[in-house]
Amino acid sequence: MTLKYLLRGIEDTNTLGRCLSESVRPGDILLLSGDLGAGKTCLTKAIASGLGIEEREVTSPSFTIIHEHLNGRLPLIHVDLYRLGRHADITEIGLEEYINGENLVVIEWADYLDGPLLEQGLRIDLRLIDEKVREACITGRADIWKERLLELDGCMGKK
Ligand SMILES: Nc1ncnc2c1ncn2[C@@H]1O[C@H](COP(=O)(O)OP(=O)(O)OP(=O)(O)O)[C@@H](O)[C@H]1O
Ligand SMILES: [Mg+2]
Repeated sequence: MTLKYLLRGIEDTNTLGRCLSESVRPGDILLLSGDLGAGKTCLTKAIASGLGIEEREVTSPSFTIIHEHLNGRLPLIHVDLYRLGRHADITEIGLEEYINGENLVVIEWADYLDGPLLEQGLRIDLRLIDEKVREACITGRADIWKERLLELDGCMGKK
C-alpha cells in the first residue's frame, strides 16, 4: 500500500511527522530515504516532538550513528547510515539489538541497508521538488502497515 503527499513547506512536514507519531506502535521501523537535504532529519524531529520528546535533543546524528531518545511515548532510536555508505553492516553498529519490539526505530539513508529490515519497515521516500516543496511517498507491506496507513491518511486529511 502506498500514500503520497506533497509537503509544501516545513509545516506540512511537521504535520506528517505528528500524524506518523500518532499511528506508530512499539517495534515499528521507519525507513527514510531521499537526497541530501530532502527533509529526513526534519521529519524525524517532527515524529520525536509528536512522541513528546523535546525537539532540541534530536540533531542530525552525523558523528554518532545511533541516538536514543527514551523520554517519549515510545523509545525513539534515530539512526543515520550516511557515513556507513552502501550495503551498511548493521551488525557492526549494533542496530539489531534495538529492534526488539519495543522501540520505534527511524533510519535515515535506509536505502543503504540490505536484507529483511527493508521488507518489514515502512518506507518513506522524500523527494526534492523545489526549495520548500517535498514529495513524500510512503510504502509498506499491506499485512503489516495497512491499518496504520489508513489511520495516517485520516490524520493527514484533517490537517
Ligand atoms: N517541506 C520541507 N520539509 C522539510 N524540510 C524542508 C522543507 N522545505 C524546506 N526544507 C529545508 O530543507 C532542509 C532539510 O534538511 P534535513 O536535515 O531535514 O534533510 P536530510 O534529508 O536529513 O538531509 P541529510 O541527507 O543531510 O541528512 C532544511 O534546511 C529545511 O529547512
Ligand atoms: Mg539528516
